[in-house]
Amino acid sequence: MGTKRRLGILTSGGDCPGLNAVIRGAVKAAHAHAMEIVGFLRGYEGLADPVTYVPLTPRNTTGILSQGGTILGSTNKGRFAATVGTSNRQELDPALVAEVRTTCEQLQLGGLICVGGDGSLAVAQQFHENGIPVVGVPKTIDNDLSATAFTFGFDSAVACATDALDRLHTTAASHERVMVLEVMGRHAGWIALYAGIAGGGDVILLPEIPWDFEAICEKILERDQAGKRFTLVVVAEGARLPDGRLVTAESTQDRRQTRLGGIGNRVAGEIEARLKRETRVVVLGHLQRGGPPSTFDRVLATQFGAHAVRLILEGRLGEMVCYRPPHIESVPILDAVNQLSRVDPNGSAVQAARALGVCFGDARASREPVFAPPVGVPVAAPAATPTCFAST
Ligand code: F6P
Repeated sequence: MGTKRRLGILTSGGDCPGLNAVIRGAVKAAHAHAMEIVGFLRGYEGLADPVTYVPLTPRNTTGILSQGGTILGSTNKGRFAATVGTSNRQELDPALVAEVRTTCEQLQLGGLICVGGDGSLAVAQQFHENGIPVVGVPKTIDNDLSATAFTFGFDSAVACATDALDRLHTTAASHERVMVLEVMGRHAGWIALYAGIAGGGDVILLPEIPWDFEAICEKILERDQAGKRFTLVVVAEGARLPDGRLVTAESTQDRRQTRLGGIGNRVAGEIEARLKRETRVVVLGHLQRGGPPSTFDRVLATQFGAHAVRLILEGRLGEMVCYRPPHIESVPILDAVNQLSRVDPNGSAVQAARALGVCFGDARASREPVFAPPVGVPVAAPAATPTCFAST
């Protein structure tokens, strides 16, 4: 970073648990190397006229590790909008880029840590192409960035959705109801899949696996016959209807991205209509994004913050920190934003869930358990489930 001993950091896009842990990690690492660090307010907006920032120190960031949200604030889809795909590239406003360059020069920033999801990292990539000294930190509850095994925020969101399923489980069993839980994740089904497995979901509907209502109803009836007269359905907000349409929520705001939401109600309505079974819906919404980060997210985010400072010190601008278990590494930001990660329908998590009898709403052939017992291991006949102890 040459002779410049000052860094900047900002948090951009939708918030998620762990942002403050990244900030704290970066502040402590910067101070350990005798560098100053400033935090820009409200995401990229803080870099442009009127420039707004606060000096960050170990003292004024004390106690933020366990806090949800971001002490710096964030802007989702403000004036800074960019894409970097080859076919659909959207350029940043050159006037804004010039303002950001001036800010970095006037504050003599040796590096700017941009913490964001794919949209915010596309902005960071264009800054890099324009000579602005950036490094990226991936954040999103959706876990849809393929350059990193996990993004921080995901584990906390899954914990929240799992807790919701645990609670729905007991009331569903008491009232012999079907409960539908709609979770976030945009076009990736990671939250639905992981929470569905952790919370004992009976039906999991993902954007990555086409499904139909017949298969869901069949599963509910199958459970009824086995004496389990309740069913938990987990549906990802981006799971398309059987005819391929997405269900979107109305918004009064001028949005560049479609706002997903409403699939849970569609699924519940159809189950009630077809089976005449009492069905209830919970849309978990922003509860998944709020609150304190999980232990895993605190550890991951802290490492990301410290590693981002290290990238700047080593002059590795234009790179993004990532988690390649068991190591924290880095990749070019461009690689990260060009490849989104989606659930592999043949991956081990889906296979394990299928082996347990979880229904993904797809055709029978693909629902058969894929795990064959090891040769020589006798296969026991399934035990009858006593109705008084019916469980998932
Ligand atoms: O990308 C994170 C996310 O929470 C998605 O899962 C969800 O679709 C979206 O953001 C919600 O955005 P907003 O906060 O603008 O409603």
